[in-house]
Amino acid sequence: MTRPRIDVLISADDIAVRVEALARDIVADMPGEILVVVILKGSFVFAADLIRALERVGASAQVDFITLSSYRHGTSGGAVQVTHDLSEDVAGRDVLIVEDILESGRTLAFAGDHLTRRGAASVRSCLLLDKPEKRRVAVEADYVGFTIGPEFVVGYGLDLAHRYRGLPYIGVVAGENDDV
Ligand code: IMP
Ligand code: MG
Repeated sequence: MTRPRIDVLISADDIAVRVEALARDIVADMPGEILVVVILKGSFVFAADLIRALERVGASAQVDFITLSSYRHGTSGGAVQVTHDLSEDVAGRDVLIVEDILESGRTLAFAGDHLTRRGAASVRSCLLLDKPEKRRVAVEADYVGFTIGPEFVVGYGLDLAHRYRGLPYIGVVAGENDDV
């Protein structure tokens, strides 16, 4: 099987440095117990590094997971669905949503509403990547790792048709972005 060329956009070293800085910013704002809500699947690698960075800076964090998927029908946009829900009670908790990438904003807007409806005391969000040019819904993240262009990226948890999640860096698949 031939592997397409993947050009490095953000190196593993640059990601590691940025994750430590994000953890410091988060703990400064959230000194109490944090409930980290990881949006699967794309965020599991980022979340694994972020919760260890939070521990190093003295934060107290618990972790829960939710699986969301979006269905896109032509140009009519995408409805977000819960395919696997949280296992913890979020009522009264200070929640930090951890997500891989903010594109249209539909996933983050849905997750924020979902947690607010469940009675979270506060909801913040930490996104590894932000593609502001692709936004369709008015939503912004509280903490952003890197702002990037509209190109499709893979690695560090992000996939293209379920591949490349294990790459240690963020990369662009050569030839994949002609129609983006
Ligand atoms: P949004 O709901 O449009 O903001 O989309 C966010 C979701 O789309 C993310 O959780 C990713 O799963 C997926 N996604 C958006 N852009 C990319 C990309 O460049 N690479 C891989 N997945 C992406
Ligand atoms: Mg995702």
